[in-house]
Amino acid sequence: MLNFEFKNPTKIIFGKGEIAKLSREIPKDANILMVYGGGSIKKNGVYEQVIAALEGFQLTEFGGVPANPEYEVLLEALKVIKEKNITYILAVGGGSVIDGVKFLSAAANYEGEAWDILSKRIVTKEGQGMPFASVLTLPATASEMNSGAVISRRATKEKLGMGGPGLFPQFSILDPEVVRSIPKNQIANGITDAYTHVLEQYMTYPIGAALQDRFAESILKTLQEIAPKMMADGFDYEAASEFMWSCTMALNGLIGKGVPQDWAVHSMGHELTAQYGIDHARTLAIVAPQHYRYYFEKKKEKLAQYAERVWNITEGSIDEKAQKAIEAMEDFFHSLEIKTKLSEYTDAYEGTAEKIQAAFESRGWLLGENRMVSPADAKKIVEMAY
Ligand code: NZQ
Ligand code: ZN
Repeated sequence: MLNFEFKNPTKIIFGKGEIAKLSREIPKDANILMVYGGGSIKKNGVYEQVIAALEGFQLTEFGGVPANPEYEVLLEALKVIKEKNITYILAVGGGSVIDGVKFLSAAANYEGEAWDILSKRIVTKEGQGMPFASVLTLPATASEMNSGAVISRRATKEKLGMGGPGLFPQFSILDPEVVRSIPKNQIANGITDAYTHVLEQYMTYPIGAALQDRFAESILKTLQEIAPKMMADGFDYEAASEFMWSCTMALNGLIGKGVPQDWAVHSMGHELTAQYGIDHARTLAIVAPQHYRYYFEKKKEKLAQYAERVWNITEGSIDEKAQKAIEAMEDFFHSLEIKTKLSEYTDAYEGTAEKIQAAFESRGWLLGENRMVSPADAKKIVEMAY
């Protein structure tokens, strides 16, 4: 096992009706900016619950943060924070809104040009960001219990990550009832995103971390088990609860401690979102299977372990099991009605791989465990995904 430090200060409040506890968690003298997305919360009762819980608090609203939170929109919110002397930010939404709020938390106390936080990878240290919390409305990213964020700038077709130990939410409220109103395509996205978060922290090479491996495998199996229930008509509270908590556990830091991590799939995926606007999770389903095929020799032992323990594929050699594992993974994405080829999303895919290679070269990026993915490798992987 590799050396590690682990601290996750986010308090989780989980369950039906728990949004009412907001008033107990936010300081009474806070001057709150409530940030939300395109309006789903006004149709499913979440908005009313938040407003009722915050009665008597000093509250300003900022709506309209789009999926893949946009820098220019967030700058508008930053203006409000400064003009109104906001002291506390509440995100009510999915990963995009929570990530947007993390950017605001970092930018509120940052002296320079706000884009530096992304382009220069400025780390927000403990105590540096403005305090914030979240009411999660879409299980997927685990942004509700981690300290990372991804921000988009459409004008330059960039999508970049940021974070730091100062950007954990103080608390997050997870009420599985919010899942009721999520459209099936977003449910499929959530399952796929969380599933790939586990893969990024698991599909590397054996390192002697049996507990982390079993945590990871149990999350994958749970997501596979609840997927058909989540994709079926109707609402199943128990399945929604398992879904929500699995997504949080997939990327709250725990399963990645002491093990090598990859994350090249996400980096390539972000470029596909930046270029074509493809939903985050779908870009991962496009890239992941080809990434594992490209690095088959380096990853085959973990692929075979995944085949055996997660898919019960016990026959054959390591190579055979590993091959079957990648097919099972692809089939799983297809069972969620997620397409796994770039050409199924856009006709204008020619040249994509070259653009990604150029972007990674300009940033000097070497990705994956052991920094083995060069920009030229990324180009080949993306070409395999056409
Ligand atoms: O904007 P509204 O109207 O709220 O609608 C949203 C949005 O259109 C809708 N939605 C959310 N909750 C709903 C709902 N619709 C009905 N009922 C509800 N209860 O769903 C749509 C997608 O929301 P979004 O927040 O964009 O989805 P997600 O949570 O998948 O977040 C994606 C973003 O997170 C980043 C991605 O790159 C992407 O920008 N990620 C953040 C990570 C992190 N912070 O750790 C890690 C991830 O790998 C990922 O990169
Ligand atoms: Zn993701």
